[in-house]
Amino acid sequence: DTTVTVNPATLAFTAVSKNLNDVVTVPEGYSVAVLYRLGDPIASTVGVYANDGQDTNFAQRAGDHHDGMSFFGLGATGSAPDANNNTRGMLVLNHENITQAYLHQAGATTVAGRRPEAEAIKEIEAHGVSAIEVTRASGGAWSYVQSSALNRRVTPNTPIVINGPVRGNAQLRTLYSADATAGRGTINNCANGQMPWNTYLTNEENWAGYFRRTAGDAAVRTAAGLAKQNVSLARYGVREGASGNYGWSTVQPSTAGDTRFAKWNATATAGVAADGSADFRNEPFQYGWVVEIDPFNPTAAPRKRTALGRMNHEGCWPGRTIAGTRPAFYMGDDAQNEYIYKFVSNAAWADADASNADRLAIGDKYLDTGTLYVARFNADGSGQWLPLVFGQNGLTSASTVYPFADQADVLINTRLAADVLGATKMNRPEWTAVNPVNGEMYCTLTNNSSRTPATTDAANPRAYTDPKLPQGDVVNADPPTSSQATRGNANGHVIRVRENGDTTEATAFTWDVYAFGSGADLDRTNINLSGLDATNDFSSPDGLWFGRNTNVTGQVAPVLWIQTDDGAYTDVTNCMMLAALPGRVGDGGTRTVNNTLTTAAGVTTTSTTTTRIGAAPGANLKRFLVGPKECEITGITSTPDGRSLFVNIQHPGENGNAGNITSSWPASQTGQGGSSRPRSATIVITKNDGGIVGI
Ligand code: FEO
Ligand code: CA
Ligand code: CA
Ligand code: CA
Repeated sequence: DTTVTVNPATLAFTAVSKNLNDVVTVPEGYSVAVLYRLGDPIASTVGVYANDGQDTNFAQRAGDHHDGMSFFGLGATGSAPDANNNTRGMLVLNHENITQAYLHQAGATTVAGRRPEAEAIKEIEAHGVSAIEVTRASGGAWSYVQSSALNRRVTPNTPIVINGPVRGNAQLRTLYSADATAGRGTINNCANGQMPWNTYLTNEENWAGYFRRTAGDAAVRTAAGLAKQNVSLARYGVREGASGNYGWSTVQPSTAGDTRFAKWNATATAGVAADGSADFRNEPFQYGWVVEIDPFNPTAAPRKRTALGRMNHEGCWPGRTIAGTRPAFYMGDDAQNEYIYKFVSNAAWADADASNADRLAIGDKYLDTGTLYVARFNADGSGQWLPLVFGQNGLTSASTVYPFADQADVLINTRLAADVLGATKMNRPEWTAVNPVNGEMYCTLTNNSSRTPATTDAANPRAYTDPKLPQGDVVNADPPTSSQATRGNANGHVIRVRENGDTTEATAFTWDVYAFGSGADLDRTNINLSGLDATNDFSSPDGLWFGRNTNVTGQVAPVLWIQTDDGAYTDVTNCMMLAALPGRVGDGGTRTVNNTLTTAAGVTTTSTTTTRIGAAPGANLKRFLVGPKECEITGITSTPDGRSLFVNIQHPGENGNAGNITSSWPASQTGQGGSSRPRSATIVITKNDGGIVGI
């Protein structure tokens, strides 16, 4: 066991109240500055963002919907890493999606069934990743360096290399890459991973919705001998009849041979090369991966790390690296009733790799060869990591779930393989985080509108927990259909895992629930199980990150930051961020939860489930920040000393449009809102006395 001296042992700030204001609220004694907004130019030749829908060239501007983010220290000059620099670094962040209505003068248009090319280019380029140089002036203010040669955008058009066991697999052949070794871009990049060898992982989450797949596609594939693909596409949600988010494949390109738009049409062409090398039927198999980027080399092609499986990758966070021990990487698949995974490298960790300048080669070493596992949580508080290895445990061509051909087929169809193994179906697994002091892994389970009393289990023990739907309420349908917010488990929880032997190599673990989301006023027997009060009640946890072990003597408390994407609570408060000083797995004992649902027809369903719960967090969990209107708080990192905390505000005013602006943040932060269109943005939070943020 690792004994930790935490000094001080308390969160030294007064909790922020829930509110619906159009500003970022932080505790007294802290300051907020806006650093990097949608549209901000990242090349010297690009003009100031007008924010009126007429701006272009998003491949050289900040994208939209800022999400997962990491700070990498740079040396005082040049482009080499310096893990201890607190005043100059590369800030790398995801642009998950777009608020389409604000990107154009009067909203998006479609002309004669086609999206205008210029609009689609903006929308595509506003997705992806930014890597920007940031510096802190001697007076303390942060800014990004518009003219830095290190600045980079990765977009859905950027050339990408396919690595790992799936590289070259026939199922990834496309017109763009007939040998299935390359692809274009990455999309719907949600959470992140910061690797100990100074690279950034960006993770493809809700990629399936971007693809058009016209009715009749399944029959064409079946006729071509590709019936297996229909099983796979259905399991991943690439639906027949889908037109594809934003209709990009409808664009008529102005340049002959430009397939950047056609690639979003995953419909198989009848009678044409069944191996997919003449159309884009296989493009969906190129997405759903973890992607590695070298933040210090803006010309290096990102690499898709296929050994880590294919899913709605939320994030990917490394466990502790200990010399001689094989490192692990923890991942959630964010969809209802999906799974939690870990990948364990074949290579044991070598400390020298942390400073190797060939960073993507080190990535090859740790991320291309190893074993992918999926988690099973047992009722007695134990659990297993089940290996997704071809030929083992039913992952063979004889499987009736899906006939696997080889390990690449297992990885392309990770979800189907996990189904075979009987992994535990979780409430939407979002971010993972690892306590740097003891190695325990935390995962947010944000909510699950399909969880019912009949489908609860020890690790997902609550069903109808929404404040607006107390237990036993009679509703119109089972589950009620009026909105996502009033269905199933609306508040979510944070589960945590302690590996047996406290080693990343373990194949078994113990677990408990660190905290259950809930309104403070709800039933403490069956809903508000963690005893939350007005200072720390929350719903739908999503972003999750342990602050770094700082280099400051005596200040080793790793603060756990929890961010929300709140479906159930937005009538009471905007989304928020909380700080926590958590204990350890097993510090709270067991609890029994009763779930009851009575439908309008008078049918009552009940379940009684015993779960494992952490010690009540009390004053060791406090609300630190509340965001502006209609935003999600997601993405967090800091300087190595913990004194500058970077946080992303995603899609403020997301329900509005150019003619009906519902937030004017970030202009509103300084009272300059007026009729400004809202912009996703990165903020920097500092303590006015210069101290470490949060403690
Ligand atoms: Fe992109 Fe699951 O949040
Ligand atoms: Ca998320
Ligand atoms: Ca979410
Ligand atoms: Ca969002």
